[in-house]
Amino acid sequence: MSGKALLELRHISKHFAGSQALSDVSIELNQGEVLGLVGANGAGKSTLMNVLGGVITKDAGSILIDGHEISLTSPSAADRAGIAFVHQEPALFSMLTVAENMFVTDYPGKWGWIDRARMVEACARHLHTVDSQLDPNTLARDIGIGDSQLIEIARALSQQARIVLFDEPTSSLTVHEKERLFEIIRSLKNSGTGVIYISHFLDEVLDICDRVVVLRNGKVVAKSPVSEMSMARLVEEMLGRQLESTRQSGRRAGDVVLQVESLSRGNVLRNVSFTLHENEVVGLWGLLGSGRSELFRALTGLDPIDRGHIRMRIGGELRPITPGNFLSRAGYVTENRRDDGLFAKMSLRPNVTAASLWNVIRSRLRFIDQAGERHVAEEVMQSLAIKASGPEALAETLSGGNQQKVILGKWLQRQPTVILMDEPTRGVDVGAKAEIHRLIGELADQGTSILIATSEIEELMSLSDRVLVISRGHIVTDITRDRVEQESLMRFAMGEA
Ligand SMILES: Nc1ncnc2c1ncn2[C@@H]1O[C@H](COP(=O)(O)OP(=O)(O)OP(=O)(O)O)[C@@H](O)[C@H]1O
Ligand SMILES: [Mg+2]
Repeated sequence: MSGKALLELRHISKHFAGSQALSDVSIELNQGEVLGLVGANGAGKSTLMNVLGGVITKDAGSILIDGHEISLTSPSAADRAGIAFVHQEPALFSMLTVAENMFVTDYPGKWGWIDRARMVEACARHLHTVDSQLDPNTLARDIGIGDSQLIEIARALSQQARIVLFDEPTSSLTVHEKERLFEIIRSLKNSGTGVIYISHFLDEVLDICDRVVVLRNGKVVAKSPVSEMSMARLVEEMLGRQLESTRQSGRRAGDVVLQVESLSRGNVLRNVSFTLHENEVVGLWGLLGSGRSELFRALTGLDPIDRGHIRMRIGGELRPITPGNFLSRAGYVTENRRDDGLFAKMSLRPNVTAASLWNVIRSRLRFIDQAGERHVAEEVMQSLAIKASGPEALAETLSGGNQQKVILGKWLQRQPTVILMDEPTRGVDVGAKAEIHRLIGELADQGTSILIATSEIEELMSLSDRVLVISRGHIVTDITRDRVEQESLMRFAMGEA
């Protein structure tokens, strides 16, 4: 290393009510270096990035760029210091267009006059850098989380910053988009930009990063060039223990519990037909925009359907149901925990019990038994190792991965006949992921039928008893686990039947 580091963090600490998120963290980043930052859910990664991005203020420590101490009291201060930030949870204004969102802090134009044509043109250009064909005039509420993530990345790149922070940029990206992002990161590196890269996909970290820093409980526990780091050691440093394997044992599928026939919606869903059985985990595999999330939205009545039939096993018989009452009998873990999964402003206690409220409502009088709720919440917190100060912690103060565990916990408790899960382990660390996989397996062993959309092929392969491949709104194949093969899945999903 010659001369001064591009960025230096010295002895950074940050305390929140109930947790010491960072203690005495010191990290340096050099020009043209990609630094991986890994750690379990709640380890303090986003907190550290939020300090650097000017989103929160640190309690102690200093930040230096080119050897000079700087003060980062707001996101615009970070921007001026040459730091761009790709947030873990892209937050777009739903009623603004993609272009408006991209330039929301800095509209092109003069004297308060917005140059709309220029804005749309610039937006399209920025989107092009991430290979996105999204129309800049689309309203943000009409796009999925993968596209939101691409917009967030495109926006950060447009700042031409000297330091780019990526907080789990690939958690909702498809294989192709991920590869494109890696190309971008390599070219940032070549141009001397310093990159901090956070991910729970440790293989990505080992692939793209030069060096890696491991945080555990807010402290740096390891720093190493990736060439001297193995996957096993990385996991051990993160979790403080080794990871047990959770390969699922063979289950026998039972009776049909859900039958979907010719479900159609415009050209988004075309004659989708499939069945789910008791004791079965079925993977739904498809690229972004293949109709994966759209299928869930249609089944649960969030989007209207043009035609189709749904039957569910009720009282031992298959009976027709409408999307409107699907959710009264089934669970749904959405891909976007921010919008539909969590009551962010409420504590964990009601969040965990929301799906099974009847268990904690004392009948007749209809008051909610808070002590009972707290007990349930504590149980769920313990069984999923949810890191929070207690059942009264507000959901929005939990780290991303821990929020995801809360959402799962609430359904795991109710054990519905069918659960739809859209990317259930998005943003979850390797330890918690193994735990969630185990719990999903347990639910299936107890009879629940689970349909899981995932874009992670390892997850698909390790969880599913059967895989449905969806492409362009159509189920192109239905294969059992023993016939699932990585390459054929890719080909099917790309539509090369
Ligand atoms: N605004 C807040 N109020 C209270 N506690 C908070 C707040 N923000 C973060 N925390 C706590 O700080 C700790 C670190 O959280 P952080 O979001 O930095 O974790 P992370 O490493 O990014 O985890 P993940 O992998 O799940 O995203 C957690 O215990 C979290 O609950
Ligand atoms: Mg985080």
